[in-house]
Amino acid sequence: MLTLSIVKADTGGYVGHSAVHPDMVAEAQRAVDRAIQNGLLIDAQVVTCGDDLSLIMTHRYGRDSHLVHGFAWETFRATTRVAQDLGLYGAGQDLLSDAFSGNLRGLGPGYAEIEFEERPSEPVLCFLADKTEPGAWNLPLYKIFADPFNTPGLVIDAKMHAGFVFEVYDLYEDKRIEFDCPADLYDMLMFIGSPARYVIHSVRSKALSEAAAVTSTQRLSLIAGKYVGKDDPVMVVRCQSGLPSIGEALEPFAFPHTVAGSMRGSHHAPLMPVRLEDATPNRFDGPPRVVGLGFQIKDGKLIGPRDMFADPAFDRARAQANEVMDYLRRHGPFEPHRLPLDELEYTTMPELEKRLADRWSPLPAPAAEQVPAGEAASSVSGLRR
Ligand code: F6R
Ligand code: MG
Ligand code: MG
Repeated sequence: MLTLSIVKADTGGYVGHSAVHPDMVAEAQRAVDRAIQNGLLIDAQVVTCGDDLSLIMTHRYGRDSHLVHGFAWETFRATTRVAQDLGLYGAGQDLLSDAFSGNLRGLGPGYAEIEFEERPSEPVLCFLADKTEPGAWNLPLYKIFADPFNTPGLVIDAKMHAGFVFEVYDLYEDKRIEFDCPADLYDMLMFIGSPARYVIHSVRSKALSEAAAVTSTQRLSLIAGKYVGKDDPVMVVRCQSGLPSIGEALEPFAFPHTVAGSMRGSHHAPLMPVRLEDATPNRFDGPPRVVGLGFQIKDGKLIGPRDMFADPAFDRARAQANEVMDYLRRHGPFEPHRLPLDELEYTTMPELEKRLADRWSPLPAPAAEQVPAGEAASSVSGLRR
């Protein structure tokens, strides 16, 4: 079995939260080159999206491997040191703990890992997003694996016709459920339509009994019970030969759907599909970006990437994202541009509630009750007539 792991973290931004400094990329590249040489990794590439640095790695150690996770953790500590030396912003931001304890769960970095027998030809897409959260993949995954208007293979490819099983996490209660689609479609939509709480973690082909997609859904980043930020997500989708074609997997991104994130992780904004060099969310710390990197995997080697959104066919989505951004921005601090109170990453509300507590007073009584009792009675009886 081969494992493809993407492990990602924001270990410092250049400038602000907009990108990663080239020296950090070079540091991570040196680390992965050493790990390939010493046999830990078969292959690896370092890619950035916004202020997030992703290690895309192939190896034989399976998911949640302490060796691979430990390597990623050390690499992020090294890029943090580079960020500190250069005074970059938020150095080590996503390393929430001082100590590594076997795997990355709960430590801050996000990861998506998928295990499979490599097929004679193995096309995969790695999607990386910045300034949003794992629920951002719900809508595209639904379209890719459950919507025949997006994916004709669901209707006309015999290996896809049986459908796909979606594994959904409840991030608030740390539990999971599987939906067998298409039979369970309507049940599933009730949940995944609320992507802040219910997030698709993986998708499996029923006909092939194989993993088809996985996302970096971990529990919310909590320190001491306080929510500390959106986890900019990554996703892997395996393609072709009974799985969605490359074009079916990219097609949902031709619609720049609205996601939570952008400025201060507290606004709805469109998810803009961009080429790698445009994955720099500069306007209003957004709009949130997604890049799609295509690889052919051969004997574990990553042949690629091809920059899949470097295609004029996605220009319209980018233009539409800019229009939607203009429209949403004009709402300023009003919902639905600003997230609802309980989803804000930054809030002053608890402090305001305390400070303004004694300035609140009950609403005035309804006007009718202020009228002397006798008069009120006659006007009511007047109405009856
Ligand atoms: C969103 C994000 C940025 C920051 C914002 C304020 O995910 O990273 O929008 O929230 O730039 O950053 P601080 O609080 O670090 O000044
Ligand atoms: Mg950052
Ligand atoms: Mg980020």
